[in-house]
Amino acid sequence: PTVAQGQLSTITLQRYLSSLVSSDESLREMEGLMLSIAMACKTISTLVNRAGINQLTGLETDVMGTRSGSQSGKGKNKAKKNIQGEDQKKLDVLSNGVLKNALKFTGKLGLLASEEEDEALLIESALDSRYVAVFDPLDGSSNIDASICTGTIFGVLEDDTVELKNEYKRNNDDCVRNADAECVSSTEALLQPGSQLAASGYCMYSSSTILVFTLGGSHPVIGFTLDPQLGEFVLTHPNMRVPKRGTYYSVNEGNSWLWDASIRHYIDKIKRGEGETKKRYSSRYVGSMVGDVHRTLLYGGIFGNPGDVKHRNGKLRLVYECSPMSFLVEQAGGGSCTSDGGSVLEVVPESVHQRSTCWLGSIEDVEELRAYLIPEE
Ligand code: AHG
Ligand code: MN
Ligand code: MN
Ligand code: MN
Repeated sequence: PTVAQGQLSTITLQRYLSSLVSSDESLREMEGLMLSIAMACKTISTLVNRAGINQLTGLETDVMGTRSGSQSGKGKNKAKKNIQGEDQKKLDVLSNGVLKNALKFTGKLGLLASEEEDEALLIESALDSRYVAVFDPLDGSSNIDASICTGTIFGVLEDDTVELKNEYKRNNDDCVRNADAECVSSTEALLQPGSQLAASGYCMYSSSTILVFTLGGSHPVIGFTLDPQLGEFVLTHPNMRVPKRGTYYSVNEGNSWLWDASIRHYIDKIKRGEGETKKRYSSRYVGSMVGDVHRTLLYGGIFGNPGDVKHRNGKLRLVYECSPMSFLVEQAGGGSCTSDGGSVLEVVPESVHQRSTCWLGSIEDVEELRAYLIPEE
């Protein structure tokens, strides 16, 4: 195939990051992390695209009666469950292994948290690292057997407990080896509010594989599309900005009978064209946060997982879904809030897997919703 004119100046992820580091040496470690995350996402993309061919669809079955709790060991193969009580898909487990290993082998992370790991992972050899990482290795994994959009979500935080860890190591030289409760207090570095993120992003596995991330501060939200011919992520979205207003709402209306009245009222208004813009909103919901957020980033509108009478805190996990995605959307000029109108990015996690309600999208749409959530004084 002829090389399109534009491709001559193809900016790969590698070239983009090295140009960042040449102007700001302090980003050297972050460059290494982003390249390993990108490598892992390329591998997961291949796994996802070939799932049906490699018989990697379906549930991760439990080894005979071990985790399913049956004593006799004669239990039939049951789905393994993660700490959230969800049935793990084969690709949940595989993607988790790919990302965990990619990040461990950078030697630049002392601590990792994943949706698919019950506990935070201490990496003894790198406990003094500058950063820790959180991730959802395969988001929207219920879509995988139908080849519908899935993704990977990640966040990188500065480890503000290095001093604490060094003190523990000085006082408990066996500390790191047995990773006892005392040492693992360094997992506090994972329990920082989203406002503290040093980087966040996602990789979407859809009709194309797109890696979107931001390094916060004065950096843009930037997108790279995987070119299967080159095997490289190439720059396609140099500066993603959420439209100020959209005409899509993205929420699982199957739960609307369980929502708080304020949320039912808001959705009813905008769908009938009785909101601020007097335009009728359309519903778009893929069931994969990465797909729904990516569309919202590009087209505008509002995405939410509001919580309801049965699940007060909603379904999404704060540390590796709500915080990284809210950080990224706000960096792109959008807005985000919890179902009580507060800021997602200020919620201080108490545990790695805790859930949070979450709305995000166009700044004017989020502000319109917040007026319903915060009762008049
Ligand atoms: P995961 O597959 O990582 O467990 O996340 C699934 C999440 C998120 O991707 C999506 O927005 C939400 O679950 C959908 O939940 P409902 O099906 O309850 O709407
Ligand atoms: Mn899951
Ligand atoms: Mn998820
Ligand atoms: Mn997941």
